[in-house]
Amino acid sequence: MERIIVFDTTLRDGEQSPGAAMSMEQKYELAVQLARLGVDVIEAGFPVSSPHQFEGCRLIAQKVKGPVIAALARCVEKDLDAAAEAIKPAERRRIHTFLASSPIHMQHKLRKKPDEVVELAVNAVRYARGRADEVEFSPEDASRSEVPFLCRLIEEVIRAGATTINIPDTVGYAIPEDFGLFIRRIMEGVPSMGQAVLSVHCHNDLGLAVANSLSAVKNGARQVEVTINGIGERAGNAALEELVMALNVRRDLLPFTTGIDTRQLYKSSRLLATIIGFPIPRNKPVVGENAFAHESGIHQDGVIKHRATYEIMTPSDVGRDASTLVLGRHSGLHGFSQRLAELGLDLEEEERKKAYERFLELADRKKEVYDDDLYVLVMAQMGEHLDSYVLEYFNVMSGNVSVPTATVRLKTGGESVEEAATGDGPVDAVFNAIDRATGIAVTLKEFNVHAVTPGRKAMGEVSVAVEIKGRSLVGRGASTDILEASARAYLNAINRFKATAHK
Ligand code: KIV
Ligand code: ZN
Repeated sequence: MERIIVFDTTLRDGEQSPGAAMSMEQKYELAVQLARLGVDVIEAGFPVSSPHQFEGCRLIAQKVKGPVIAALARCVEKDLDAAAEAIKPAERRRIHTFLASSPIHMQHKLRKKPDEVVELAVNAVRYARGRADEVEFSPEDASRSEVPFLCRLIEEVIRAGATTINIPDTVGYAIPEDFGLFIRRIMEGVPSMGQAVLSVHCHNDLGLAVANSLSAVKNGARQVEVTINGIGERAGNAALEELVMALNVRRDLLPFTTGIDTRQLYKSSRLLATIIGFPIPRNKPVVGENAFAHESGIHQDGVIKHRATYEIMTPSDVGRDASTLVLGRHSGLHGFSQRLAELGLDLEEEERKKAYERFLELADRKKEVYDDDLYVLVMAQMGEHLDSYVLEYFNVMSGNVSVPTATVRLKTGGESVEEAATGDGPVDAVFNAIDRATGIAVTLKEFNVHAVTPGRKAMGEVSVAVEIKGRSLVGRGASTDILEASARAYLNAINRFKATAHK
């Protein structure tokens, strides 16, 4: 069976999703999990775009071992230099450079003639070749490009040293059968295609990203570019977990292997969702809450009699063992640390000790601590790495006949600020008090609350979507008290804004 290279771009294209900005520590944490998952290539970011992006790539290149570390660059020297420099410490380095090849992009965006595009691309690839082990070239908007021009461009960049040619369906325009033929035409129309790996990068605007990627694989592509949970520009990219499980489940039609340890899929999905604060839709294939839930009596009866009647894969295939009662207040640091490691939550010793203290506080409050509680607890703590504002104290007075009033005290840069405000309800009052204390104008767009784990003592998790100075951000907070969870979520969004303001 042939091997498909899995190129993960969660940290680059995925991070381009509005609201998905990650701190450096969070990027690193996710990169470690991606390596554990077994991806072949991690695209760590777009270094020239900001110092934050540069440092994030550098940290991953320094510390994450196993996968090739890639960085994105336009076909200009300053981008290529930044990419080369950022990934220098990696075991294996790849520069991924791109330039649009479709008539609409060349004419209206680049304002360049096709010959100029070829020249720029060739020069960039040649320049990159001396600065990394591997060079990937992407003709942006390839799926709307003319095949003869595309073949000429690809032939030239392979001659200049490109080792991977990636065909992006940048705007999610392709239709599976047609895209497969398109890939075949490229395979056949580029004489030197055998010297490079052909890759695809499909966006999901029509919900066809995974289908298009599979069709491309059937027609000769040997690298797929994907993201965890399918995050990415607009409607996102092909979802790693869906594509990999399609290859696994339908080996009869798709005789390919990957290096992915499918038992790490759920953890990876959960970790990303917790980091960026985007909940996983309940009906999301493979990783959604309902993906293995059987509701109708007929289905339940079938599954009891023989699981395969209604299940084409098992929860354990993707690492979904039921949320277990893991720990209680008598659990020691050792057991706690071990469980964190099993969940893919690797923390430095000091951080682990801090998390353990919080765990003990939580265990005091709710006795039974589940895996999901641990994810939330650790991520809340990771969020505090960014903390410009820490919640020290809050108090709320509310009732059905009084005006809700909140007081909050925040710690920032060694000082405490205390403010009070009223609101339409207790949550609104807390948010207004925080606005006063930080002096930052925040527009609340969404507010959601749900119980993380079962029972009346469950942790409440609040997620908020806000807009600050025209940027969309999300924040998450958890506590057994939902007002506290709300305050933490709101502050988390503000802290993310501050930590990534230079993005
Ligand atoms: O969608 C796209 O075209 C991209 C390229 C940079 C590969 O993300
Ligand atoms: Zn893309």
